[in-house]
Amino acid sequence: MITQENGFFTEEDSVEVVTSRNSNAKSERLKQAMDVVIRKLHEAVKEIEPSQEEWMEAIQFLTQTGATCNDWRQEFILLSDVLGVSMLVDAINNRKPSGASESTVLGPFHVAEAPELPMGSNICLDQKGEDMFIQGLILDTSGQPIADAVIDVWQANDEGFYDVQQKGIQPDFNLRGVFRTGKDGRYWFRAVKPKYYPIPDDGPVGQLLSDLGRHPYRPAHLHYIIKAVGFETLTTHIFDPKDPYINSDAVFGVKRSLLAEFVKVDDRTRSVAYGFEGDFWEVVHDFVLAEER
Ligand code: BEZ
Ligand code: FE
Repeated sequence: MITQENGFFTEEDSVEVVTSRNSNAKSERLKQAMDVVIRKLHEAVKEIEPSQEEWMEAIQFLTQTGATCNDWRQEFILLSDVLGVSMLVDAINNRKPSGASESTVLGPFHVAEAPELPMGSNICLDQKGEDMFIQGLILDTSGQPIADAVIDVWQANDEGFYDVQQKGIQPDFNLRGVFRTGKDGRYWFRAVKPKYYPIPDDGPVGQLLSDLGRHPYRPAHLHYIIKAVGFETLTTHIFDPKDPYINSDAVFGVKRSLLAEFVKVDDRTRSVAYGFEGDFWEVVHDFVLAEER
């Protein structure tokens, strides 16, 4: 048996030699996680058999990934997103009971201090894009409306940029808002039809995607975080099923149940009532929250 004392390194015994050194780990969970990571990493290296140059290239990639991180850019999360790891962690931590709405990735563009607005507000502050009316219900799994649910919504504009990516170009808090349901659990607000956009692709993760022959686009979507007392918080999106990238989201965030219907409405009375110029898009989508477990 290999112990901390007698474990000279060999190619054959590499995993046991390294993991046995961790027997005095201060946390059992850390030891368990590192044992798995070391085992899988050694397995990968043994299968790939990288040259020294290739290994150095991998190290340089990770170095650049770290160097690209700053207060508003997290390149490691982006790496986890494009490798499908963010969605996997999300899936493991959000196994919902039947009937509850599914979750998806948070993404880097949520702003914690978006303003709470009166129901029905138009979150588009720069009058650019195609008008859109969004409405639905926040329900529990037995179909009852949830009062006092807080709906935090954000989206990119019709050029595919979030306000925080275009400071000084878009107004602050453009296309963001927080709404609170009444007794009937209904929500509704006005916005503009979102468009597909590339994830930040001017760094090492963008280069990796390009080297792998992958595009960096996410299909058009609206982000939601929905909270209510006694219920699990739901972080999710709704997607436009007609988007050209709906089947190839760069971060794997699309789920069948998150496809909404974007319907073009030609109704002058409604359009005037909403303060729109003419035709508008309508999305009707209910969300079902799981009871806190
Ligand atoms: C987003 O949808 O905002 C997003 C998610 C993951 C990576 C980049 C952007
Ligand atoms: Fe997004």
